[in-house]
Amino acid sequence: MVDVILGLQWGDEGKGKIVDFFAKDYDVVARFQGGPNAGHTLYVNDKKVVLHQIPSGVFHKGITNLIGNGVVLDPVTLKRECDTVASFGIDLKKNLFIAERAHLILPTHRALDKAAELSKGNQKIGSTLKGIGPTYMDKTGRNGLRVGDLLDKNFTTSYIKLRLKHQRLLDNYNFQEDITAWEQEFFEALEFLKELNIVNGEYFINDKINAGKRILAEGAQGSMLDIDFGTFPYVTSSNTISAGVCSGLGIAPQKIRDVIGVTKAYCTRVGGGPFPTELDNETGEELRKIGNEFGATTGRPRRCGWIDLVALHFACMINGVTKIVMTKADVLDAFKELQVCTAYKLDGKESREVPFQMERKIPEPVYKSFAGWNTPSSAANSYEVLPETMKVYVNFINEYLGVSIKYISNGPGRDQIILV
Ligand code: GDP
Ligand code: IMO
Ligand code: MG
Repeated sequence: MVDVILGLQWGDEGKGKIVDFFAKDYDVVARFQGGPNAGHTLYVNDKKVVLHQIPSGVFHKGITNLIGNGVVLDPVTLKRECDTVASFGIDLKKNLFIAERAHLILPTHRALDKAAELSKGNQKIGSTLKGIGPTYMDKTGRNGLRVGDLLDKNFTTSYIKLRLKHQRLLDNYNFQEDITAWEQEFFEALEFLKELNIVNGEYFINDKINAGKRILAEGAQGSMLDIDFGTFPYVTSSNTISAGVCSGLGIAPQKIRDVIGVTKAYCTRVGGGPFPTELDNETGEELRKIGNEFGATTGRPRRCGWIDLVALHFACMINGVTKIVMTKADVLDAFKELQVCTAYKLDGKESREVPFQMERKIPEPVYKSFAGWNTPSSAANSYEVLPETMKVYVNFINEYLGVSIKYISNGPGRDQIILV
C-alpha cells in the first residue's frame, strides 16, 4: 500500500513538516522526483532542519528512507545533508537507501543551469541553479550517468566523455567560470556516496509492498511546477504529480491508495512565471513577513498572494487528490478580510479552468471575500476551538474543490496540526 504526499501549488506548501508528521504511520518514506532544488523544513527537538534530497522520514527510528530512481542526485549536497542528519544521532547506514537508477548531477550540470539562465536575461526561469534541468535533459537525451554507474570501472571514462560534451555547450554560452573546485568536491563526495546503501530501488520497494509494509511517497516542488501540467516553461523538469510516483519508484498505479495534497491557506511562488493571485503590494508584503516566506533552498523572497481555487481544483484533478492538508492557517490570523480566487477572467470571459498558457496574458482573478478570523489560532489544538470564520473559509474551499481538508496546520512545530 502506497500513500502520496505532494504539493498542490508552486512548492513550499509545508510538505516536509507534513511528511514528518505522518511518517510514524509508515514503514518507508520515499522521494520519487526532483533533487536538491527542494527544501523541506522540519523541526527536530525544536531545531530547524532543511532537507533537500533525504526523505523527511529520516528522523524517525525504524523508518526506511529511499531516494528513488526518479530523483536527480547531487553527491556534494547529499554528503553535506548526511553530515547534518548524522549529527542528530541518526545512523544512515541503517535507514537510507539510494536507487541505482537515480541520475547524478555533475558539476557541469550546475554550470549549464547557470549559463542557460544567464542567457535568458529577464525571461529566466528563476531556477535554483542546482543543475536540475540539465540533468533531466541528459536523462531524456540518454546521456546521463546514474548512481549505479559509480560501481563500474569505466565510470571515469564515461564522466570525461560527458564532461567534454558539456564543455562544448558551456563554450557556446561563453561560460568562463572555473569549476575545478566543484569537481574536486564532487569526486570526494562520490567516494562517500559509494559507501551508502545503493540498491535496486524497484525490487527494494516492491518487496516491501509485497511484505505488507506501508509506503509514503514524498513529493517535491508542487503540481503547478510539473513539467507537463505546470505553468510551462516556468516549471521544474520532472513530473511532480502523483503519476510521477509510478515512474519515479517503479510502483504500479493500483498500489496507490491516498493522494494527500498539501496547500497553504494562501499561495506563494518563488522564481519567475505567472501567478494570477499575486499581491505585489502591502498585503503581499505582510504575508511574506508573517509567513516568513523566504526560500528554504535559495533564501529568495517568495512572491505571495491569495489562495487560488482554480489552480487548486486543477491540481486535485490531475493528482486524484483524496485528502487535503491546509498549512499556515495561522499566518492569516492578522487579516481582517481574506480573498479567495474562484475564477479567472480573460478577455472579459470568466472561466474555472487553468489555460494552456498564462504568461503572455495573466488571467485576472475573480475573488470572493471572506471575513478573517482576526484572532490568534496557533495555540488551538482541536477543530472545535478554531474560530467559526476559519471553518466558513475551510468549508467553502471543500465545497469548491469537491475534496475535503482533513488537517489544518497552525504553526511550524511538529505538533501544531489539527484533525478536522
Ligand atoms: P516544503 O518545501 O513544502 O517542505 O515547504 P518549506 O519547508 O520550503 O516551506 C514551508 C515553511 O513553512 C517552513 O519554514 C515551515 O517551517 C513553515 N510551516 C509549515 N507549516 C506551517 C504552519 O502551519 N504555520 C506556519 N506559520 N509555518 C509553517
Ligand atoms: P520544494 O520541494 C519552490 C522553482 C524554482 C524555479 C523553478 C525551476 O521545496 O517545494 P529548478 O531549480 O527546478 O530548475 O527551478 O522551480 N522551484 C521551487 N519552488 N519550492 C521548490 O521545492 C522548488 N524547486 C524548484 O524557484 O522557479
Ligand atoms: Mg521548500
